[in-house]
Amino acid sequence: MTVEHTLSIIKPDAVAKNVIGKIYSRFETNGLKIVASRMAWLSEQEAGGFYVVHKERPFFKDLVQFMISGPVMIQVLEGENSIAKNRELMGATDPKKAEAGTIRADFAESIDANAVHGSDGPDTAKVEIAYFFPELSVFRGR
Ligand code: CMP
Repeated sequence: MTVEHTLSIIKPDAVAKNVIGKIYSRFETNGLKIVASRMAWLSEQEAGGFYVVHKERPFFKDLVQFMISGPVMIQVLEGENSIAKNRELMGATDPKKAEAGTIRADFAESIDANAVHGSDGPDTAKVEIAYFFPELSVFRGR
């Protein structure tokens, strides 16, 4: 098993609900270590740049507007298979389809206000970590 890093964002809906600690606790009790974190109120440009792969999708505009509607908490999670593990903990993108006990089933309201983001693969994780934590070049290699 390899130790991986993944980028996680607690979105404005979950920050507003005051559940950062509850979500962090899920990471920590499931073998994911928070090795970098920062809170930010993203600009439209930052949020749009982060989600640039979705630029042509019909939901892009609403997604960006939602992501800049309040502060977010951004973190790098470290652990064995952290990318897949974090996705398992988050549950399906659409909270209505998320398995019981997942972060999205427990804290999310809709497909946009879905509480958390997590990188979907090793290449994306590297790009996303570098996007929000450019100083952490040490994580880029794995
Ligand atoms: P996230 O994991 O942050 O990645 C892209 C986001 O776009 C996703 O979570 C959802 O919040 C949002 N989104 C809105 N509509 C859709 C959709 N139809 N399919 C996928 N993602 C969507």
